[in-house]
Amino acid sequence: MHIGNIKITGKLLLAPMCDVTNLPFRLFCKEQGAALVYTEMINCDAYLMENSKTKKRSKFIEKEKPLGIQIFGSSIENLKKAAVKIEKELKPDLIDINIGCPAYNVMKTGSGASLLNNSEKIKELIFNVSESLKIPLTCKIRILSDEKKTISIAKIIQKSGAKALTIHGRTAKQGYSGNANWEIVRQIKKVLNIPVILNGDIIDEYSASKAFETGCDALMIGRAAIGNPFIFKQINYFLDTGNNLEKMTFEQRLNDFSYYLKLCKKYGFVNIKAIKMQAQFFTKGFRGARIIRSEISKCKTMDEISKTLEKFSKNN
Ligand SMILES: Cc1cc2nc3c(=O)[nH]c(=O)nc-3n(C[C@H](O)[C@H](O)[C@H](O)COP(=O)(O)O)c2cc1C
Repeated sequence: MHIGNIKITGKLLLAPMCDVTNLPFRLFCKEQGAALVYTEMINCDAYLMENSKTKKRSKFIEKEKPLGIQIFGSSIENLKKAAVKIEKELKPDLIDINIGCPAYNVMKTGSGASLLNNSEKIKELIFNVSESLKIPLTCKIRILSDEKKTISIAKIIQKSGAKALTIHGRTAKQGYSGNANWEIVRQIKKVLNIPVILNGDIIDEYSASKAFETGCDALMIGRAAIGNPFIFKQINYFLDTGNNLEKMTFEQRLNDFSYYLKLCKKYGFVNIKAIKMQAQFFTKGFRGARIIRSEISKCKTMDEISKTLEKFSKNN
């Protein structure tokens, strides 16, 4: 698949996720086979004001490429300025605009999914931002309850200059309830020429191969990758060979979490609270995980977390 002039080798993409897809996590997913990774969404106004937390969120390294920086905002002027500044300063492969975040504090400012109610604004926004960039601009949307309107917005997005469209098949109101509507992705794929990326409820080999039946060009994986970068290897292996890889053991998962910790230390992402949260995800669903989860939750430093992991890896 090509997004503008960017060649994407592979069909599984890592979704942008706040407080999850930081540099170490993206790098890990990339190493496991994610073909394109995205930063968590970056507030364009905060980026323009040189906010240090926002700057850190948008930091990436060459090894992660191809990489997209996702931005959100409500002012077309500021989205444009931020996109141009990001292109010049950070040089990502592409910039993605978030037209799907359903969070109350995002929607109330007129950003994220609230833009879906204003197709004229979407048109102006995509046209202005894509015109000012040399790199491709892409969009990520949620759907509307009205299918015709959703298809019409997808067409507007393409016509206004976006070079790919990701669709999470749920409405903003749905949050994460119900199943993602893949049928609408099939319909949108039929009428667009740019790559169409399906997002929502890809959890394993089976759901991935089912999702490709819509004709979409690629799949974007979100929640199922949290604490489990291995999912990219697992699904890619199945898509390439038709066979399933062995399920991960608890010990392998603990090794993965140790590796994630190593990357966090190496790249300066040592927020204990965030790492303890990731520990909960990396250890989820395994028999006997309760004890290690509880021990990690009591740790106060990275070293304590590493030592706890070592102790449990030896005992497993
Ligand atoms: C913790 C979390 C943070 C998220 N942050 C973002 C974000 O910054 N930008 C965005 O477009 N979507 C965000 N999403 C939505 C995901 O990118 C994705 O659209 C959604 O989770 C559906 O895909 P899934 O079923 O594979 O999880 C977030 C989702 C989660 C669970």
